[in-house]
Amino acid sequence: MLPHGQPWLDTDGRPIQAHGGGVLVHGEAFYWYGENKAGPTRSRGGVGQRVDLIGVSCYRSTDLVRWENLGVVLPAVPDDETHDLHPSKVAERPKVVHNARTGRFVMWLHVDREGYGKAAAGVAVADRPEGPFRYLYSLRPGGGDCRDQTLFIDDDGAAYHVCSTHGNATTRISRLDDEYLRPTGQEAMAFPGRYMEAQAVVKHGGRYWMLASGCTGWDPNPARSAVADSIMGPWAELDNPCRGPDAAITFHAQSTFLLDLSGASGRASDRAAGGVVAMFDRWNRKDLGDSRYVWLPVEFRRDRMVIPWRDAFDPALA
Ligand code: GAL
Repeated sequence: MLPHGQPWLDTDGRPIQAHGGGVLVHGEAFYWYGENKAGPTRSRGGVGQRVDLIGVSCYRSTDLVRWENLGVVLPAVPDDETHDLHPSKVAERPKVVHNARTGRFVMWLHVDREGYGKAAAGVAVADRPEGPFRYLYSLRPGGGDCRDQTLFIDDDGAAYHVCSTHGNATTRISRLDDEYLRPTGQEAMAFPGRYMEAQAVVKHGGRYWMLASGCTGWDPNPARSAVADSIMGPWAELDNPCRGPDAAITFHAQSTFLLDLSGASGRASDRAAGGVVAMFDRWNRKDLGDSRYVWLPVEFRRDRMVIPWRDAFDPALA
């Protein structure tokens, strides 16, 4: 069990650095990728807080509780100040998927300048889930600004990139090409004017479900949820799915990923009930590297998703 509110430690006893992350289920293991923020938090003159870019960490587990640190699999590039991954830049919300057709592991992440004016998506690839990842380029899906983002792979292997656009007012859903490296141009706009961030998508019971947040930076707000019969919509917005103490502020946290355990095989599935786990970040903006994690099983009740509070993450209940 991993207690909520406490630091979660890796198998070396060090706090896990995988913020804004996501989990790839591959073979008999889980790979948790996220932002490494193990550096000093700096104030940016009244416009928020940051940690200089260190890179994307990866941790491996077979039981979702004991996580082995595989290191920084996409590191910062300190010797080129024009590079998207220079320490002065921003790299957030990395998500990794496996492309069965090419055999490669593809990472998309939000890359930005300190003031968030670049608003683009970065793409990196690796031959193995434990990396190293090779950074390819950044782009703007549909030519628009792109900040909080995630990836979703449908049953047919088609990949979709989902991001906040139009100054975060709208959610853009872009179908990716067969290599998962570029948008095809086939896209849909969802939730115009609803200012959603921290989007996460999962398919369950033949329908598409989205978990998201409002836009209040590192501070928590009421979670959002939505359902659709097609990934491209139309999406029907539902209520805040959280239930329990401080559900109105998402248990002091913000969504980052919906982990689908239904496809987990081997040892991984022995420990998990085969459901969906909602992963959240409990940001600590005074010390971002000390931000904590909240992982809760999702209950699907007819036409809504519900996420009841629990004091700890227990994979046996997931
Ligand atoms: C949040 C966003 C985070 C990070 C933060 C910076 O709204 O979800 O990923 O960008 O703002 O203030």
